[in-house]
Amino acid sequence: MSTLKAVRGTRDLLPPETVLWNRVEATARKVFARYNFGEIRTPIFEETSLFARGVGEETDIVSKEMYTWEDRARAQSEKSQSLTLRPENTAGVVRAYIEHKLGETGQLQKLYYIGPQFRRERPQKGRYRQFWQIGAEAIGPPSAGSESPLRDAEVLEMLATFLDELGITGWTLELNSVGSAADRARYNETLRAALEPLAPKMCADCQRRAVTNPLRVLDCKVAEDQPIIATLPRIADSLDENSRAHFAQVTAALDAAGVPYKLNPRLVRGLDYYTRTTFEFTHGGLGAQNALLGGGRYDGLSEAIGGPRAPGIGFAIGLDRLVLTLQAQEAAQNAASPQAAEKGHAYIAPLGEGLNAAALALARELRRKGLTIELGDGSFRLKKSFEAAERAARRIVILGEDELKSGILTVKDFASGIQTKVARDGLAEFLGP
Ligand code: HAM
Repeated sequence: MSTLKAVRGTRDLLPPETVLWNRVEATARKVFARYNFGEIRTPIFEETSLFARGVGEETDIVSKEMYTWEDRARAQSEKSQSLTLRPENTAGVVRAYIEHKLGETGQLQKLYYIGPQFRRERPQKGRYRQFWQIGAEAIGPPSAGSESPLRDAEVLEMLATFLDELGITGWTLELNSVGSAADRARYNETLRAALEPLAPKMCADCQRRAVTNPLRVLDCKVAEDQPIIATLPRIADSLDENSRAHFAQVTAALDAAGVPYKLNPRLVRGLDYYTRTTFEFTHGGLGAQNALLGGGRYDGLSEAIGGPRAPGIGFAIGLDRLVLTLQAQEAAQNAASPQAAEKGHAYIAPLGEGLNAAALALARELRRKGLTIELGDGSFRLKKSFEAAERAARRIVILGEDELKSGILTVKDFASGIQTKVARDGLAEFLGP
């Protein structure tokens, strides 16, 4: 029989790697809480039309990468519908904002999420078909200050703090403004005109985009097209006075807070909902897939999916890529100063199967006092117990008939090699913290 494997582009995350994932997630929760963001959890599948209307039919995500299926009716009262595994979470958050009428509170909603997303991309290092994002959105009616450039700067400052607290070094914040919907429409026309004579020399995708959605030409990754793309007009020249002023206030606030950034006039991002501020944090250690995270403003998204006016700004961090970056950094640090892997407080070795139950009772006692205990098995020979113990814990506790009766246990410390007799009452204190 052929063996079954995880589907291409998906993977299992095992200990000890999951320790790192938990650390990243815990740091995100801790840092975001200081900015008063609360957690939202939306379903991992939604109606297909949410992404078609929200993210945009012409984007690669919607046109090629979604996992979509026809969900058949199971009862006469039901209709079959087209459903999609979420390729990103912003559309789902905005759908929830509309559905729960969060705008009626009059407050800015600050929401974060941690969860898997699904895109049928060609798998490679840092690119998977099921991947994880940590994201956040600040959205609300304009009266709640949702359009303020201060919100953009605050979100970017929060990201810089998060990466710094995690210990990620060498990131670059790339920043651009794609303007308002009107600016973008004007820029699209300018691009369309500029592309007319050039498109026939470009790849098939660009030829199509040059007609349907010229802005997407700037996303093209085909090497031969890059010299042509470099000659195209810049979006910065199509921005109106308001968009320019908004962007100038974002950069002024970043300057005041001391958050470094690099202006990148070609950064348009691969989703259609963006308006005004757009950004990516990149990291040189990641290779081709160098975007650690991306985000921006989406002032028209709520209306595009049938909601009230609700400007917003947010981001999503690629958790898989963040962990890859941390692993590379920590491998380099450990090579310079190797550290012992984290081990448990003690391994309990029952001498004979008759002592297994008593060993469980002792382990329960110690674990309830907060210690990390590995429980052996009375069927093991003593040599095997010692070998297993040394791999898992800093000390071994021997539990035989005599120890059980007398309440005096034998503890050996692996680092020092010293063997000690310890009374059961004082054992937790002796082993911990
Ligand atoms: P995005 O740029 O499509 O934006 O994705 C954000 C991040 O998710 C990327 O920078 C990358 O780190 C990670 N990512 C994307 N695709 C993959 C993949 N196939 N494998 C591994 N990691 C991946 C969004 O998703 C927007 N919803 C961000 C946003 C939130 N904008 C406003 N609010």
